[in-house]
Amino acid sequence: MGIDGDASGPPRRQFGEEGGRLSYGGYLRLPELLAQQQPQSQAPDELLFITIHQVYELWFKLLLHELEGAREAMFAGELWKARQLFKRVHAVERVLIEQVEVLETMTPQDFMEFRAKLAPASGFQSVQFRELEFLSGLRDERYLGSFRHVSDEELARLRRRLAEPTLWDAYLTALSQRGLPVSDDEIMTSLLAVARNRGSYDDLWQLAEDLLTHDETAALWRMRHVQMVERQIGTKSGTGGSTGAPYLRGRARLHYFPLLWELRAWL
Ligand code: HEM
Repeated sequence: MGIDGDASGPPRRQFGEEGGRLSYGGYLRLPELLAQQQPQSQAPDELLFITIHQVYELWFKLLLHELEGAREAMFAGELWKARQLFKRVHAVERVLIEQVEVLETMTPQDFMEFRAKLAPASGFQSVQFRELEFLSGLRDERYLGSFRHVSDEELARLRRRLAEPTLWDAYLTALSQRGLPVSDDEIMTSLLAVARNRGSYDDLWQLAEDLLTHDETAALWRMRHVQMVERQIGTKSGTGGSTGAPYLRGRARLHYFPLLWELRAWL
């Protein structure tokens, strides 16, 4: 008798029985994944600290994948596909912001129990975070100098991201495929034409809004992160060697797509 209690008829195979090679833990490589949390101290909260950073890096990996997909879709003129991917990107980015709260359950005193063991490691050195910035159009080559501890493969990835087209390049291609000029002198006129003629260009308008939401949620994460940093370490400098909160506050003002923000003033 099957699991559904049906005793009549021919014996039915359960879904997934056929190949029978993969298990849940094998497919997800859980033994390997769950062996990667290795605290450097006896402090009870270090497991939380490691786990949350690893979770962020997994989300960063997915975001890079989806944003690459969105960029390709824009180049191919498949705007619907880019929009579908941006929906996922935004949902993940909102999770990134929400997750800060989990780390804020750690008190500064408990953090101080193991903070000294971390230096000079810092989120500053997150290769994937910088890849996300480069892909989104915020390309500050000076950061390459802060990656002294990364592998050649990681450095090559960063250089490749600097050379590759950005999301903005892909959006400009989508505009020009619709006959809208995109030179530096003409781009604002084209963006205004899109904004004012939704009957013809609503898909391009919505896509620009998706880019803006990506930009806005990244900025919200920066603000959320610096608030958490101030709560944890106050005016102390960062383990990565920066001034800490003042450095991070300066970066919270940055935009991936400044022209989309400037457009607002013209509408
Ligand atoms: C107790 C928790 C945390 C503290 C006190 C903290 C502190 C800091 C500080 C002071 C910086 C500036 C660079 C430096 O000098 O180190 C920084 C940068 C950064 N942190 Fe955190 N951080 C925390 C948690 C996290 C988490 C959970 C992530 C998630 C990945 C993260 C990602 C980053 C990134 C990506 C940067 C570079 C930001 C930029 O250059 O704009 N941090 N952090």
